[in-house]
Amino acid sequence: MACRCCMDKIVVEGGHRLQGEVRISGAKNAALPMLVASLLADGWSSFQNVPDLKDIESIKLLLENLGAKVESDSHQVRIDGGGLCNHEASYDLVRKMRASILVLGPLVARLKRARVSLPGGCAIGERPINLHLKGLQQLGAEIQIDHGYVEARAERLRGADICLDMPTVTGTENLMMAAVLAEGVTVLRNVAREPEVVALADTLNRMGASIQGAGASAMTICGVKSLHPVSVSVIPDRIEAGTFMVAAALTQGDVTVCGCEPEHMQAFLHKLRQTNARVQEDRSSIRVVGPETIASVDVKTLPFPGFPTDMQAQFMVLMSIASGLSIISETVFENRFIHVGELRRMGADIQISGNSALIKGASMLSGAPVMATDLRASASLILAGLVAQGVTEVNRVYHLDRGYEKIEEKFASLGAVIRRVPV
Ligand code: EPU
Repeated sequence: MACRCCMDKIVVEGGHRLQGEVRISGAKNAALPMLVASLLADGWSSFQNVPDLKDIESIKLLLENLGAKVESDSHQVRIDGGGLCNHEASYDLVRKMRASILVLGPLVARLKRARVSLPGGCAIGERPINLHLKGLQQLGAEIQIDHGYVEARAERLRGADICLDMPTVTGTENLMMAAVLAEGVTVLRNVAREPEVVALADTLNRMGASIQGAGASAMTICGVKSLHPVSVSVIPDRIEAGTFMVAAALTQGDVTVCGCEPEHMQAFLHKLRQTNARVQEDRSSIRVVGPETIASVDVKTLPFPGFPTDMQAQFMVLMSIASGLSIISETVFENRFIHVGELRRMGADIQISGNSALIKGASMLSGAPVMATDLRASASLILAGLVAQGVTEVNRVYHLDRGYEKIEEKFASLGAVIRRVPV
């Protein structure tokens, strides 16, 4: 059952211009695999700039359950992977967060076996893990699916030449963590090139691994006998940064997003500029000044370096109040339009046809009680609330708390009229 705070709601009064500076937290999707990587070494690894999020709590719980020691202090997390002894990740832990599947590779690499609950589908799609499993098999693991669990065994993983059918992010990360301790050389082709994958490669290399080519479409990994602990900082969250930039554009605001990495956001920034927003990049900050009239822009989501699927819902809100027609095509996940129904209830004119949404810009959205069953969809509803006439209640903030640190406090500091209401 969801805890009471999961049922909290966020109430937003629309129509206030956002202005000021906001500091971006560490990236959830970089922190998760980095924390898991600590299982690959004995001794205390230390991670800085870890965001304070529900998903981070879930992964810490899972790592402890596997035998690791975990200590946290504010945004620093220390993990000693030396105690790793339990090879089973239970359904109860995995169902809370799909990214738990990331422990599969490290468990097989270190304990020679793993039993990890299959994550199953979720609100945004079927989300199979067949490519994780196929890759592990090619590295020499025997895999069975039994009673809803993946069971993997390998006396010793061996390097292999693997070509992924699709550049899966967590699949690439899982195989990297398995291959670093395998015997011989692994070549991973058609891999994900996301900054979070590069951050994991960097972490593993600092632990003594030998990974070349992260960020390109093929990676070469020379297996090593053992890894040592690491001290490393988590990269900024490009999706959180993008969410605040859309908020600035929506409210004709003037917001500087600090502590971000502009290089990680180029496809998104290109599209944002085309809406007529003024976008000024600095080394680690970006200032966005919202335009008087938002121009309509077509967007197609793609794996990095393309436009991120994790920014699709937020960008759709911007297009809902733009001056004309736009088409947003979702090519990464098959079912990532769950926000559309709720946005329509707020007055947006959006038609879905297959994997595309046709958006007819309206001059106004109107506040309403809304709810979404996915993290980025929930963020899009807050954004819609910021610009809608009247009051919007975003129910079940559980999803937001999984991936946005203190979202309401950050928006309030920029002048939004927003508050969390405990239920
Ligand atoms: N896919 C397969 N087989 C596999 C793995 C993936 O067919 O074995 C397909 C998926 O169904 C999907 C596509 O490949 O159609 C890409 O999925 P991917 O595996 O890259 O997604 P993921 O690793 O499960 C991560 C992020 C997501 C983000 C996607 C795409 C983490 C923990 N999660 O998911 O983040 O949307 O990559 O960039 O890194 C979020 O933060 O809100 C979020 C959903």
